[in-house]
Amino acid sequence: MERTCILIKPDAVCKNSTGAILDRLAKVGLELRAAKMMRLGVQQAEDFYGEHKGKPFYDPLIQFMTSAPIVATVWEGVGAIQKARQVMGSTNSSEAAIGSIRRDFGTNNRYNVVHGSDSGTSAEREIRFFFKPEELYVYQENDWKV
Ligand code: RTP
Ligand code: MG
Repeated sequence: MERTCILIKPDAVCKNSTGAILDRLAKVGLELRAAKMMRLGVQQAEDFYGEHKGKPFYDPLIQFMTSAPIVATVWEGVGAIQKARQVMGSTNSSEAAIGSIRRDFGTNNRYNVVHGSDSGTSAEREIRFFFKPEELYVYQENDWKV
């Protein structure tokens, strides 16, 4: 079992695509462990995207990510990181595979509706960035049948 951090970016939230995107992730068998809506501050966005500091797209990326709310989520499953990246599609929405989340909901290589962890190490960091341990929920199929 593996966990991955998926962010629903401001473009998706503003287009009211959040639910449809969460559904795509659930439909590939991933289980939701945590979810939180928030508006990132500039400092937070800069901390999250520290690895991109100095790149030409960094400033517009920070502007975009702080422009409106995001929904931060954590998903678990076998090979969750790769599974999520596959259903998300490649970074540039206009070149992403047909049927992928980015192709269906995104616009281009900046406004691409989702972020997904790219390795186990980044998943751990990103999950810790947004959630306290007690905000992650593990549950079983029949837990609701009291
Ligand atoms: P990947 O999963 O393919 O690593 O994609 P990513 O979203 O992590 O993309 P990355 O290259 O790490 O870039 C982070 C985010 O920055 C924005 N971006 N804008 N040329 C541009 O204007 C540009 N390139 C990247 C995107 O929002 C991208 O997701
Ligand atoms: Mg990346």
